[in-house]
Amino acid sequence: MYRSRILGIGMSVPSRVVTNHDLATKMETSHEWIVERTGIEERRWVEPGEGGCELATKAALEAIERAHVAPKDIDLIIYATLSPDFNFPGTAVFVQRALGIKDIPCLDIRQQCTGFIYGLSIADAYVRTGSFKNVLLIGSEVHSTGLDISTAGRDVTVLFGDGAGAVVVGRATDDQHLILSTHIHADGSEAEILWTEYPASARHPRITAEAMAERKHFPTMNGKKVFIRAVTRMPQAIMEGMVANNLQLSDIDMLIPHQANLRINQKVCEMIGLPADKTHNNIQKYGNTTAASIPICMHEAIALGKIKPGNLVCLVAFGAGLTWGSAFLRY
Ligand SMILES: CC(C)(COP(=O)(O)OP(=O)(O)OC[C@H]1O[C@@H](n2cnc3c(N)ncnc32)[C@H](O)[C@@H]1OP(=O)(O)O)[C@@H](O)C(=O)NCCC(=O)NCCS
Repeated sequence: MYRSRILGIGMSVPSRVVTNHDLATKMETSHEWIVERTGIEERRWVEPGEGGCELATKAALEAIERAHVAPKDIDLIIYATLSPDFNFPGTAVFVQRALGIKDIPCLDIRQQCTGFIYGLSIADAYVRTGSFKNVLLIGSEVHSTGLDISTAGRDVTVLFGDGAGAVVVGRATDDQHLILSTHIHADGSEAEILWTEYPASARHPRITAEAMAERKHFPTMNGKKVFIRAVTRMPQAIMEGMVANNLQLSDIDMLIPHQANLRINQKVCEMIGLPADKTHNNIQKYGNTTAASIPICMHEAIALGKIKPGNLVCLVAFGAGLTWGSAFLRY
């Protein structure tokens, strides 16, 4: 039985910056409203011709380089997204092709904002059993091509940004750099409080002019319910990991929460009693990039020296599904 660790991390965001002021020219909203409710000041949206695969490939190449491995050493790709480039096949095979890797398995997973934590749990399990040695885990999203850029969609549209983050998960060789635990959960009883209904193979036909006129091909959300569920489930997932690892709150060097809303993350820290300097947020710059949020935020915390080698890091997420989970690791 092996243990796993994060060997390298990478990220990539589009170069186009979309500010709250830019959005206010397209819908009835304001910089002040968005900052006050969410903390978001700007986000990145792709230009035509740029997709999830392109962002993911750039993030993956940085992660591979920082892991001191070569693309040919990767033996599994896991691609977490709610916005696959195409209906099928999944986007992982396009990244595999872009990286020039052949024959290795490619796995696309669909757990929305918790996708990275689910992916980490899969990568960890495979590395532990020895099935795979170097797993490339990617969270990559392009929301902007599927958002309702009008006042009707403003509650959702202002929240989301495009971007990708990636890690290479490989074998741990000491107890200072390893994944300690992952805990993942789901509850489908409220699946529709945050979803995009159309196009749907469960509908005949998959999309209609009526459904589009009702804007059902855009994401819809009950924001208040999502907020309440998030501030309940995220503290639970952190506590679950702390109990499993026999940790005190003071043992945590850095908490990297999913970046859905700065107010959610502040509330979570307040609820568990974690000081503000023990967490990092960058939703201000990128909005919610769903499966990419955690690796993008972790990448920045490492660059800023807020996460140092050997530090105890907690990752926690909550998202559509509903799904939630946590991971504890020594970086
Ligand atoms: C989306 C969210 C910021 C909305 O904040 P809220 O305080 O719940 O606001 P409400 O939905 O009650 O809307 C309040 C008012 O602002 C309006 N509003 C909504 N979006 C707006 C926007 N972008 N700009 C300006 N006004 C907006 C609403 O229409 C409503 O107007 P009304 O009172 O005239 O009906 C908040 O609910 C939230 O962050 N929820 C969690 C979202 C999330 O994390 N999603 C991802 C999960 S992974």
